[in-house]
Amino acid sequence: MKILITGGAGFIGSNFTHYLVKHRPDWDVTVYDKLTYAGNLKNLELIKDQIKFVHADICDQNTIDEQIAKNDLVVHFAAESHNDNSLLSPWPFVETNIIGTYRILEAVKKYNKRLHHISTDEVYGDLKLDDPAKFTPDTPYNPSSPYSSTKASSDLLVRAWIRSFKIQATISNCSNNYGPFQHVEKFIPRQITEILEGRKPKLYGNGQNIRDWIHTEDHSSAVLKILEKGVIGETYLIGADGEKNNKQVIELILKLMNKDSDYYELVSDRPGHDLRYAIDSSKLREELGWKPKYTNFEEGLKNTIYWYKNNRDWWQPLKDKTEIKYSKIGR
Ligand code: NAD
Ligand code: DAU
Repeated sequence: MKILITGGAGFIGSNFTHYLVKHRPDWDVTVYDKLTYAGNLKNLELIKDQIKFVHADICDQNTIDEQIAKNDLVVHFAAESHNDNSLLSPWPFVETNIIGTYRILEAVKKYNKRLHHISTDEVYGDLKLDDPAKFTPDTPYNPSSPYSSTKASSDLLVRAWIRSFKIQATISNCSNNYGPFQHVEKFIPRQITEILEGRKPKLYGNGQNIRDWIHTEDHSSAVLKILEKGVIGETYLIGADGEKNNKQVIELILKLMNKDSDYYELVSDRPGHDLRYAIDSSKLREELGWKPKYTNFEEGLKNTIYWYKNNRDWWQPLKDKTEIKYSKIGR
């Protein structure tokens, strides 16, 4: 199997590439990545001799055509992925997430290749804090931020190309990932590295917002399951029943890093901040037989803290720039 992985130098894409090289060693793997501020070749250093790498933009139709033509299968992770950035500067989100996905769809249509499109639970908007409901594949789309609205747009393009042009595609919408190689702009790595830098973690608003955490290795195993067993045209929701509010996550990080439970700062809230995400992944579990491995969040978080403690040379070059950006917006 020849597979093209867009965004494979980012957090989830690189974890997936590692997972694939380990679990499908006979596959021919090419990573396609623009290496934006979020892409990092160090993420692929340990497997660099087992993969090919193409440094290019998914919005470049000629290059994406050429690479898709050479492969059997495309897994499309490439995106602008951070909500706070999308509030400051939405254009790169429109360009990469919408136009980039359009370019991939056109290439997949032209060369009749299989596509798996990676998306997010944020396309469904948010749930109330006290509502027992979870997102299902039938939940109507209702995105809140420039990031989530561009991801929703990309999903709708994929659905339209499936229906109108009969392309061979599947979609997955996953909840919040954590694990190694996640950029320090994101919640969990930001707090771990703030503590390692001798500063307090930063909690937006009142800290009651809920996210449904999944270890990135479980996201990888779900994507491989969909590639091999998924039904063309279907959407699968990926989640591991990991709901926690942000204050609970910070308190757990503080406990695991031997700090007092009130060693954090409340900072200004994110505009339009979604309240709660929660995934019902029963379709993926029942129809494809997937189940997560990291069911103990504390254990997964402990491993993640250990990784950041031992990989300061990976995150230190990103840290100051990220914190300067946050200080300008008072967060
Ligand atoms: P990330 O920001 O860490 O990585 C994105 C990667 O895409 C980077 O390597 C970047 O260089 C590359 N990229 C960006 N624009 C590109 C372009 N125009 N052409 C080629 N490459 C480009 O993101 P992530 O957190 O790993 O997310 C990966 C995917 O998973 C995204 O589609 C995101 O929407 C989705 N997702 C993320 C989460 C999460 O919790 N992080 C959850 C569900 C879904
Ligand atoms: O749900 C899936 C989505 O999860 C993905 O589609 C996105 O790509 C990914 O970035 C993530 O989006 P969130 O906005 O939920 O993640 P973030 O890490 O930015 O924030 C998680 C929660 O923590 C959110 O409620 C905001 C809050 N937060 C974030 C930061 C950076 C804080 O309280 N303090 C912080 O310093």
